[in-house]
Amino acid sequence: MATIEEKLQTLREETLAKLKTIKYENAKEMQDLRVSVLGKKGVLTEILKGMKDVSAEMRPIIGKHVNEARDVLNQAFEEAAALLEEQKVAAQLEKETVDVTLPGRRIPFGNRHVISQIREEIEDIFIGMGYQVVDGLEVESDYYNFERMNLPKDHPARDMQDTFYISEEILLRTHTSPVQARTMDAHDFSKGPLKMISPGRVFRRDTDDATHSHQFHQIEGLVVGKNISMADLQGTLQLIVQKMFGKDRVIRLRPSYFPFTEPSVEVDVSCFKCGGQGCNVCKQTGWIEIMGAGMVHPQVLEMSGVDSKKYSGFAFGLGQERVAMLRYGINDIRGFYQGDMRFAEQFK
Ligand code: DAH
Repeated sequence: MATIEEKLQTLREETLAKLKTIKYENAKEMQDLRVSVLGKKGVLTEILKGMKDVSAEMRPIIGKHVNEARDVLNQAFEEAAALLEEQKVAAQLEKETVDVTLPGRRIPFGNRHVISQIREEIEDIFIGMGYQVVDGLEVESDYYNFERMNLPKDHPARDMQDTFYISEEILLRTHTSPVQARTMDAHDFSKGPLKMISPGRVFRRDTDDATHSHQFHQIEGLVVGKNISMADLQGTLQLIVQKMFGKDRVIRLRPSYFPFTEPSVEVDVSCFKCGGQGCNVCKQTGWIEIMGAGMVHPQVLEMSGVDSKKYSGFAFGLGQERVAMLRYGINDIRGFYQGDMRFAEQFK
């Protein structure tokens, strides 16, 4: 029969040898081994049971050997545990190396709303011609929206521009034209002519359908100075239309009526789809109506304190949605306002 000391020796040797064979992937094996060696029901406890047969004088010596074995084994297990952990982390790092050649994750890019794109494009054209871009008020007075545009209270043309009223005298503007009066009021004509455009949102009491919306966007234009004539209006509009719809486009002016211009015209552009032959876009006429314009009514000049004998001017108003719809073949105005990404992303 082996002595306690021999047993201890064997246990130490065998345990240390087994520890060396354990791989980090099987860390649980080490835990099991530790329990089987140092646990309450483990081999060491079993060996200790033999102490009862040891003589009294030998006990302290054997006891010392037992404690020593326990310390050595405990330390060996701790070191092995640390080593396995290290190996595990090293292996993980090995696997997780970053491949810097992989393409990055793309952030989806947004884009300007098509109405903003059209507005900015038109602004750029006019800024290039020395115009200033001015802001107007969306909440306007009846006075500026109608009276100053030569539409007194009982004027029948008011019927075409019913709107949302804040009070009897305050309303959501029906067109950008009141900005004409406001900028003329503020302009010092002794310093030179006034050249401005004013883009913005306008409102009408309308039933929404494919071509009508209770709010939409216009761009107003106004030039007032000495010797401004219809020829200036025609030349300016011809230029803009070519920049917006292509250099082969020509314009045509048709007599029309607006209370704030005299004479008034409707501006048509030769059809950019068929070139004037007649097609479904131009309804077989070869022409597409694009905006209203005219020579500023003397009354409108005078109401701003501008001497209509000395000064004259032209004005025009176009719909931003209309330009976008014609340019891109959009057939329902509601697409602009519904926030559908499939609509918006077409104009990247
Ligand atoms: N304000 C007009 C409308 O909303 C458009 C317009 C026509 C503006 C002729 C003008 C103009 O400045 O001269 O229907």
